[in-house]
Amino acid sequence: MIEVKQLSKVYGKKDTAFTALQDVSFSVPDGSTVAIVGKSGSGKSTLMHVMSGLDHPTSGSVTFDGKVITDMKPKEADAFRASEMSFIFQAFFIEANRTCMDNVMLPMEIAKTTRSRRQQKAEKALEAVELLEKRDTKARNLSGGQKQRLAVARAIVNEPKLLFADEPTGNLDSVTGDRIVSMLFELNKKLSSTLIVVTHDEELAKKCDMRIHIKDGKIRSIEEPKSTKKGGKK
Ligand SMILES: Nc1ncnc2c1ncn2[C@@H]1O[C@H](COP(=O)(O)OP(=O)(O)O)[C@@H](O)[C@H]1O
Ligand SMILES: [Mg+2]
Repeated sequence: MIEVKQLSKVYGKKDTAFTALQDVSFSVPDGSTVAIVGKSGSGKSTLMHVMSGLDHPTSGSVTFDGKVITDMKPKEADAFRASEMSFIFQAFFIEANRTCMDNVMLPMEIAKTTRSRRQQKAEKALEAVELLEKRDTKARNLSGGQKQRLAVARAIVNEPKLLFADEPTGNLDSVTGDRIVSMLFELNKKLSSTLIVVTHDEELAKKCDMRIHIKDGKIRSIEEPKSTKKGGKK
């Protein structure tokens, strides 16, 4: 369970202070798919950054199964993130001058796995996004859609319990976008991992168990499933 409690984020100070998030609270049951929906500038990315401990809130807390990430020291938060979470931010984290294989193996270097096991897992992830034949191609030579698929491979290679995706289908043609979306939902099903996705895509939002609408840094509404969760474990 993820619990977000009275989260606020103010950027800048005094005259330049800007409230990007104000008193945001909600909880997400493990294994759910959650869409964060709102106009550009409404605070969606800020919410993701603060939830994952990549950025600090001005006030409020975020708790994962009782562990308060917003109280952790940076090193502790980094280790927690490496073991529990993955991210798909637009073309984020992709190392243009490294091969696809190297890119997918990188998160595992942080997570400390043996080399042969890392290779095996990286190949499996590349295969899942249909990029295995590009394993030795430098990331910079991929098309936009392929780069995004590489970002997905990299995010799923550690089989994260929690996956954050910030507009994963933005800038993609609809076929590639659909493919990415299917992969994300497959992962959610296969591993009962939690998926939190920022999106403008109505179709994608509709597929999620829960929709959080934000406007000007505040929660406007939360649509939650009426019935209990799809048989998954809590
Ligand atoms: N580092 C920052 N410093 C100052 N203002 C910021 C910073 N990051 C984001 N903002 C502002 O906070 C608001 C929310 O931004 P963001 O979370 O990126 O919105 P969204 O992802 O919904 O488009 C915007 O008005 C943006 O300009
Ligand atoms: Mg954003």
